[in-house]
Amino acid sequence: MDRSLTRRTIELTRRHESSAGTGFLLSDDDPPVFVRGEGPFLFTEDGERYLDLLAGSAVTHLGHGLPAHRAAIERALASGIIHIGTRLLSVERALLLGDLVPLLPAPLTRIHFANAGTEAVEIAIKAAQYHTGRLGIFAYEGSYHGRTLGALAISAREQARGRFGGLEAAVTFLPYPYRFRTEPSADDPAALADFCLNRLADELARAKAAGALPAGIILEPIQGGGGIIQPAAGFLRGVAALAAAHGVLLIADEVWSGIGRTGRWFAFDHDGVVPDLVCIAKGLSAGLPLAVVAGSEAILGRWPPGMHSSTFQGNPLACAMARATLAEIQAHDWVGHAAGPIATCFARQLGPLQALPQVRDVRWVGAEAAIELADPSGQPDLAACRALRLACLAQQILVYGGGGWHGNSLILLPPINIDPAVLERGLATIAALVRALPAAA
Ligand SMILES: Cc1ncc(COP(=O)(O)O)c(C=O)c1O
Repeated sequence: MDRSLTRRTIELTRRHESSAGTGFLLSDDDPPVFVRGEGPFLFTEDGERYLDLLAGSAVTHLGHGLPAHRAAIERALASGIIHIGTRLLSVERALLLGDLVPLLPAPLTRIHFANAGTEAVEIAIKAAQYHTGRLGIFAYEGSYHGRTLGALAISAREQARGRFGGLEAAVTFLPYPYRFRTEPSADDPAALADFCLNRLADELARAKAAGALPAGIILEPIQGGGGIIQPAAGFLRGVAALAAAHGVLLIADEVWSGIGRTGRWFAFDHDGVVPDLVCIAKGLSAGLPLAVVAGSEAILGRWPPGMHSSTFQGNPLACAMARATLAEIQAHDWVGHAAGPIATCFARQLGPLQALPQVRDVRWVGAEAAIELADPSGQPDLAACRALRLACLAQQILVYGGGGWHGNSLILLPPINIDPAVLERGLATIAALVRALPAAA
């Protein structure tokens, strides 16, 4: 078999792509190169089939090669308008507004378009600052909000923040209810949530006394890249109540969790909360760059034109793709599929792994799961996580490795429309690989 496309792709990427690119994170020596996708599978030039549980980093909710996506793009292309800019009204942009707003709870009726999750986060911060006239932001440990400088400043991950920054002075980090944030681990989720809520209450009281209340509190209602961490019921409600009591805006970063990934349209739905601002991206448009911030008339309907803008925002093709994605999810109730059959597969295949000494924790909600690995002393085991990722690759299963607060979590992200039988087989293979890892003593 002629693998010239594969060789050329590897060679050109290795030689010319910025070394900050992450194309060789999956496998440094011999990464697979995919030339075709269909449903939950990707295919190499040789026709080898891989199960894609990486989903382009939580993006391809409906898998690959969906006919409805192709039809939407062909329809949009037929208009001849690939780009129209922000100064002209766009039919596709407007129709997406009409489709998206009914999926959001009242009073979130205003949408600001963006190109990436990180830009949506920047917009939400700017909107909160504009609305409140204050600058500070409260953010959470273990969070990830993006890599532009503003979003980085509120991301807790040291590895992402690196040597960049300068904006952190306005940011206060708060404890997030992740059971291993302290040693020994907190095994009572409700008590852990209360502890975190009390810390937020204290910080807000301190800020109020100092005349320095923040503009907003930003958090992922369920942490995604942080390792699929769902706080106890009532936590988000508690944060929302404290925010409202202090006139501080609650910003839900649903870039990863939104559009059905967690088995609800939005992760905030699990706790019956309506945030002031919501950032949505990844799953919205099947990979064409698009993100949005949703807010109320009072917040996103009152700031002047140009307070935030970028050339490509609300691109017509990406909007057409988003409309097709939303229609497809609704027509087949893929959100219910994530909450039901997919979560059941996780419970059946991954639940029993919890008893293994090499497994520190297994967590899942809807169509996402994390397997967190421990070394013999019970501490995060990054090497085991790497070994597991490579073992999965050898079995032709693509996974999101190096996730979680410590980089020791393997994250699984099937398309939310996956056939449960296909997922079950993939998970059974992964479970066998976890069992084969050297046990922690
Ligand atoms: C919760 C969350 N917010 C923001 C971002 C940044 O999105 P993007 O990579 O599109 O800039 C991510 C990316 O993984 C994310 O998981």
